[in-house]
Amino acid sequence: MRRGMIGFVLMLAGAAAGLAAGYLLWGGRPNWYAVRDVGKLPADRQNDLAAYGYQLIINTQRYLGPDVADAAMRFAGNNLACGNCHLRAGLQPFAAPFVSTYTTFPMMVDDRVITLSERINGCMTRSMNGRALPADGHEMEALLARRNVFHDKCACWSTSPTHHAFGQPATIHWLLDEGCSQGLS
Ligand code: HEC
Repeated sequence: MRRGMIGFVLMLAGAAAGLAAGYLLWGGRPNWYAVRDVGKLPADRQNDLAAYGYQLIINTQRYLGPDVADAAMRFAGNNLACGNCHLRAGLQPFAAPFVSTYTTFPMMVDDRVITLSERINGCMTRSMNGRALPADGHEMEALLARRNVFHDKCACWSTSPTHHAFGQPATIHWLLDEGCSQGLS
């Protein structure tokens, strides 16, 4: 009788340990969509560029819109901001987020390799009804520099069914690094 009880208690303890291990392994993932404040990153050229990239996304019309003073900068054909579709500058689940973007490009599409610059220019020409940003220009460099905010310092193995607003859910692969616990948010 007593043996049975001990066995039962051991079984319960085993189940609890299993649950705890499962929680630690799969339940404690950081929230990839938490707002990461570019202003809190140390000031250096890359982070300044990333901050400019953020402005380009949330206030696109102010920098690239059809009404800006400098005619050479009128790249967009409408007054939309990238952030009107890519909500919270790409940090809103199910609203075309950028959380895995920097790790999924270059990407193979229809037997062709598409770079991230080309994909951005796809939105410049279609969604923004404008013309392509020069691939080696300051604005493209700033949009690409946002990689800093998402990945370089905070990349972890993770899968997210919420990446793509349209089409197949993407499996996101991140590399684990201490930046996650240091918190960019
Ligand atoms: C009218 C809405 C709209 C606007 C404005 C817009 N986009 Fe997009 N964008 C989309 C949609 C829709 C997708 C496809 C999302 C998907 O695959 O789930 C997309 C995809 C992208 C992707 C690929 C993301 C990925 O991980 O596959 C990038 C990069 C991108 N947009 C950048 C931009 C930038 C930069 C701007 C502003 C210059 C912009 N977009 C403006 C709608 C828009």
